[in-house]
Amino acid sequence: MMEMPLPERRGSGAFKWDLAGDDEIPLWVADMDFPVAPAITNALAQRLKHPIFGYSSVPEQYPAAFRRWQAARNDWDIEAEHLVVLPSVMQGLAVAVEAFTAPGDRIGLFSPVYYPFFDVVEELGRVVVRMPLRIEETSSAPGARYTFDFDLIREQIKTVSAVLLCSPHNPGGRVWSRAELVELQEITTSAGVRVLSDEIHADLLFPGTAFVPWLRSDAPAPAGSRDSADIAFLAPSKTFNIPGLPTAWAVVPDPETRQTLKNALHARMHKLSNLLTMEAALAAYSGGGEWLEEIRSVLYKRYTTVREAIAPLDGVRVFEMEGTFIAWIDLRERWGLPRRTRFAAATGRDHNGTPRSRAFGTLARRHGVWLSDGSQFGPEGDGFMRLNFATSAERLNEGLQRLSAAIDAFDRHDA
Ligand SMILES: Cc1ncc(COP(=O)(O)O)c(C=O)c1O
Repeated sequence: MMEMPLPERRGSGAFKWDLAGDDEIPLWVADMDFPVAPAITNALAQRLKHPIFGYSSVPEQYPAAFRRWQAARNDWDIEAEHLVVLPSVMQGLAVAVEAFTAPGDRIGLFSPVYYPFFDVVEELGRVVVRMPLRIEETSSAPGARYTFDFDLIREQIKTVSAVLLCSPHNPGGRVWSRAELVELQEITTSAGVRVLSDEIHADLLFPGTAFVPWLRSDAPAPAGSRDSADIAFLAPSKTFNIPGLPTAWAVVPDPETRQTLKNALHARMHKLSNLLTMEAALAAYSGGGEWLEEIRSVLYKRYTTVREAIAPLDGVRVFEMEGTFIAWIDLRERWGLPRRTRFAAATGRDHNGTPRSRAFGTLARRHGVWLSDGSQFGPEGDGFMRLNFATSAERLNEGLQRLSAAIDAFDRHDA
């Protein structure tokens, strides 16, 4: 189905398509160009037959459907009372940052990372502490991936009051292994630092990859043995391509933490749910499984396409990824930037000078392809571009050709 001609998105209210020029291919905002599962459109069509859209509540079946999904997919038994419904992941994260930290507090994140993490911390008057990921050069093609810099984290953790984790990782495409998460948990638990784990990409996995929930109760000690005050954030939006119908879940095992979060949501008037969103989300978790399998195999194929297109380009590579639909393209060697593997901890997100990838992004748009500038994800992301490959094979191939032309042109432009 996903290999059939895809629906035209221009004029449908799609942010990235409406901003793009007439012949421009937008490969930046992280939604997919694929139609959603028929279960979702059917449920919405059914509900639209009823002509009244009054105040509504969360349908009783919805948390049950989400819990069944997590149990079946991730071997994760979530207790019903641990769930708190949120307006969206980022809104939930923002409320949590406000509720569990104080203005001026230092909050750790693993950069480069989804840039709204920086916005949330800074706009709420907290201080970003960058604990940059380490680049692991691997022997297999394409040769590099992110991991945690545990030595650096051990030092930095003493200086922060909370940590934002992105698991799976955007933009690196890593699905953190159990060993990595357990080591991180040992550090955060013994430092008594609360972790807010954004798991919005948990379902978008490549073949052979398993997602390990941060809070999974049967994880080996110390994760399973401690009284966790951490929070995980999950949502149907990325999984089922319905971010225009936003809603999300917080999983909050600790009763006191849960009550504080609920109070904070109430105080900000996050009380109502969106009726059509609930219909879509319930239908997705109940009947979207087969569709997701199809999507996952298409996404893996697209990732292979990206790798094949980038492989012949001198000094350019794609990071090794295990999930999500965004490729992280490393152009540092091509641009004569140092291919550092370790980065120093720092606060804020300032760059020294103008990031190279920002200038490239502007030039790439003139070549008809719009990618995300890697430096937006933190200074460690300069020299990288992020490319969303959740689109048709045809459009992706065209976008990759334009990217290649832009890379050549940038050599000359930059000389
Ligand atoms: C890591 C991550 N968290 C959160 C979001 C957005 O979540 P929401 O739309 O539910 O606020 C995105 C979207 O790109 C994301 O990549």
